[in-house]
Amino acid sequence: MSRQIIDTQDGSHSVLAEEFGVSYHSKYGAIQESMHVFIEAGLRHRAVDSTPLSVLGIGFGTGLNALLTCLEAEKRSLSIHYTAIEAYPLSLDFIRQLNYTSALKLDSNNIFFNTIHECEWEKNIVIHPHFSILKNKKKFEEINIENAFDVIYFDAFAPNAQPELWEAPLLTRMYDALRTGGVMTTYCAKGVVKRTLKSVGFTIEAIPGPPGKREMTRATKC
Ligand SMILES: C[S@@+](CC[C@H](N)C(=O)[O-])C[C@H]1O[C@@H](n2cnc3c(N)ncnc32)[C@H](O)[C@@H]1O
Repeated sequence: MSRQIIDTQDGSHSVLAEEFGVSYHSKYGAIQESMHVFIEAGLRHRAVDSTPLSVLGIGFGTGLNALLTCLEAEKRSLSIHYTAIEAYPLSLDFIRQLNYTSALKLDSNNIFFNTIHECEWEKNIVIHPHFSILKNKKKFEEINIENAFDVIYFDAFAPNAQPELWEAPLLTRMYDALRTGGVMTTYCAKGVVKRTLKSVGFTIEAIPGPPGKREMTRATKC
């Protein structure tokens, strides 16, 4: 598994997964994309009051989505429990080279990014009073949870790199994992993926994507 840090156009880092020939984020901006697709279209869409929320992050990777969710929870005094799934964690030495704390202009005392990465896997860990995390080291294909989540961030590698992750069996597991009214967002807007999401029961919205991408998808379990 060969991984290399790359720059994206908003100044934040991403990671190149050489065996798949794809990066973890959009080349136009990693932070920009994660904010748009997961925080804005997913979390903010669902977090309309102070009801506690359960978020499932499919693809923990650099921990960027978890960090942005942690910051949003603190800023808005939300109550969020975040479950992250990742089969191939990056090493801490690698993670420490990523520039998210500085790119987000976080105070130098802010330890959220480090704590999220340094905390133990397979345990519920409180990062601050409004955000706790459970990191599961396992494959997406092993997700077998029902009616537990309000928001799912589906951030797997693109369908051309990992087609099996965008087919009905895994998308059905995600549908089952959501509570009624829950939403799943993804950067992917491929017709075949939207049709499969519909066929497993989701209601689909094609909404404007982040810079460099015309559309993205929000899928709701009605
Ligand atoms: C597009 S990257 C996004 C990662 C993360 N959201 C981030 O912001 O860095 C996809 C992630 O899914 C992980 N992954 C790929 N296939 C997987 C699988 N079958 N099960 C679990 N994790 C997988 C990769 O290791 C990678 O971390």
